[in-house]
Amino acid sequence: FPVTIESGNAKKSMFLLATKFKRPHKHSSPVDTEMIPMNIGGLKMDCLKRLLSQIKMFLRKKFSNGLKRLSHNLTVFYTTESFKQWRKKNSYPLGFVPTMGNLHLGHISLLEMAIKKYSQVVLSIFVNPTQFGPSEDFEKYPRTLEQDILLVELMLKNYPDAQVIVYAPQHPSEIYHKDFSSFISPGKIGTLLEGEKRPGHFQGVCSVVSILLHIVQPECLFLGKKDYQQWKILQKMITDLHFPVSIIAGETVRNSEGLALSSRNRYLSSQQLELALNFPQQLHQIKSLLVEEWEKNHCWKVDAISSTIATFCQNSILQWDYCALRQQDLEDVSEGSREVVLLAVIRIENLRLLDNME
Ligand code: PAF
Repeated sequence: FPVTIESGNAKKSMFLLATKFKRPHKHSSPVDTEMIPMNIGGLKMDCLKRLLSQIKMFLRKKFSNGLKRLSHNLTVFYTTESFKQWRKKNSYPLGFVPTMGNLHLGHISLLEMAIKKYSQVVLSIFVNPTQFGPSEDFEKYPRTLEQDILLVELMLKNYPDAQVIVYAPQHPSEIYHKDFSSFISPGKIGTLLEGEKRPGHFQGVCSVVSILLHIVQPECLFLGKKDYQQWKILQKMITDLHFPVSIIAGETVRNSEGLALSSRNRYLSSQQLELALNFPQQLHQIKSLLVEEWEKNHCWKVDAISSTIATFCQNSILQWDYCALRQQDLEDVSEGSREVVLLAVIRIENLRLLDNME
C-alpha cells in the first residue's frame, strides 16, 4: 500500500515527530522524515525541506543503477525503490500492462491499446513465483528482458509521443518482503477450471497484481482476453476490494492459422506446433455444435452440452485437459443463460495450451 502508518497518541506523536525532525538519529532513514506533518510550518520547515531534497538527490545518485533511460520515450527501472521514486514525482494518469515478459505480439497489442489511451504507460515484467505450482516451470520460464525491451523500442518507433516505463524488478524480494504472508484469495471463482488444475495459481496472480497496483497506482489496467478466467478473477478482485482502477481487456491475438499467441508456444517443436494448430479449429467445431443445440431448443440443455463436449473430446486427436461452456461470469450455464464462453486447455506432452471462444 502506498501509505505509511503512524501509531499512538496524536499529541505525543506530533512531539516525537518534531524531535525526530530536529535531531535525526544516525540510523533513521530519510524516508522516515517524510512522515512529518506539513503543519509544523515556519522557517525550520524550509531548511529541512532543502536538507531533504539534498538527501534525496544524494540517494538518487547513489542508486541510479536502478534506472536506465534508453531513449527519449523509453525508461527502464530495475528496482522497486527506483520505480517508486519516479512514481512519487509523476502525477500523470497511467495505463498499466502487467506481464511476465517473453513478450509477443499479444502483449504488444495490449501496450498499443494502452498507449492510444494514455500518454504514459507502465509495462511490468516480473516472473511471479507465487503463481507457479511446485511441479511447474517457474525456473524454466523464459526470461528474455533484453529482447523484450528491444521489441518495445521497435514498437515505440510508431509512437514517438508515447512514454513507456518498463518496471522490471530483478528478484522476487523486490516484490515480496521477507516472510510475506498477506495473500489475496479469489474465493470460489479461483477454484474452477484452471484453478482446479493449478491449485493456488490464482491466489498468486491476485496477490502479485494487487501489489503491482499499489506500486504502480495506474488509472487503468490492460489485460488479455486469452487468459479469460484471470481477467474475470482480477475484475472481481478490483470490484470487491474497491481498487481505484478500471480494466480494459484486449482481444486474443492469433497467428495466421488461428493459434492464440502465448509465451509457452516457443516450447513447441514443429511437429507439436502442427498438432497445436488443430486446437482453435476444434474449438470452433465444438462451438458450432453447441450453437446448433441451442438453435434446436432456444435454450441450453445442460446434459446435452456436457455430452456433446465429452463425445467430441473423446474422438479428438488432441488431449483435452478440460473444455467447458460457462456463463461469461464463469458461473454454470443454466437454461436461460445468454452470454456464454467456451474455455479449454489441451495438453501436448507436458505443455498446456489455453484458449477460449465467446
Ligand atoms: O498474465 C500474466 O502474464 C500474469 O499472470 C500476470 C497478470 C502478469 C501476473 O503475474
